[in-house]
Amino acid sequence: MTQNSEKTEINLDVFSKALQPIKEFMMNYSCAMEVVKTKIDVLNKEFQVRTCRNPVESVVSRLKEPSSIIAKLERLGHEKTIEEAEKYILDIAGVRIICSFVKDIYMIAELLMKQEDLKLLRMKDYIRNPKPNGYRSLHLILSVPIVLSTGKKDVMVEVQIRTSAMDFWASIEHKITYKKDFPEKERITRQLRECAEQINTIDMRMEKIDEAIEETPDLS
Ligand code: GTP
Ligand code: MG
Repeated sequence: MTQNSEKTEINLDVFSKALQPIKEFMMNYSCAMEVVKTKIDVLNKEFQVRTCRNPVESVVSRLKEPSSIIAKLERLGHEKTIEEAEKYILDIAGVRIICSFVKDIYMIAELLMKQEDLKLLRMKDYIRNPKPNGYRSLHLILSVPIVLSTGKKDVMVEVQIRTSAMDFWASIEHKITYKKDFPEKERITRQLRECAEQINTIDMRMEKIDEAIEETPDLS
């Protein structure tokens, strides 16, 4: 790799002088992730008070390990520098939002996208356009401002929004990505695709059932 004085190599050697910039780099993502989580928390609290309903069931977040960032930069053919990571690795900070219903996914996405300080950089709608394997989720890449003592910085955060059923499916499907070819792979892949269809049908039915319950007057 050519050494460039304006770029900071991601060197995880404990004696490296570059360790402090890496710590600061990761801290930016950690803060941006907290900002997004707080925004979701605020929306959920507001819904709880106004409508006695939580559109968000749970939120999980994770920071990509520096070693995984290096591996991804290598895989994508980029230089292993902080600058390239900032530009090309969109999922260093990841927030996953689990909703009860598909309509809630789009509502939460809309509410995040229209917040003045957040900027939508990319959206992939794998609910309207599922992946061939059956994967469904709504993915947003948001630019999130964090305010540090040194000033404001815009940081990218990947937000995945899905129902609990979609999340359950993805967690099972994810297991096969770690397996190389195995004899049952074709059959299991087909079964997963069928389950994804059934999960979609159930998500839709549950939404309709819930609406019917909501519309029913309480006579007690
Ligand atoms: P990555 O380089 O993997 O981050 O993919 P990408 O930049 O093409 O983005 P995409 O929005 O397609 O996927 C981002 C993330 O969504 C992945 O890292 C996974 O967490 C999740 N994801 C995408 N596709 C699948 C899938 O087929 N199965 C499962 N289980 N998760 C998926
Ligand atoms: Mg990823």
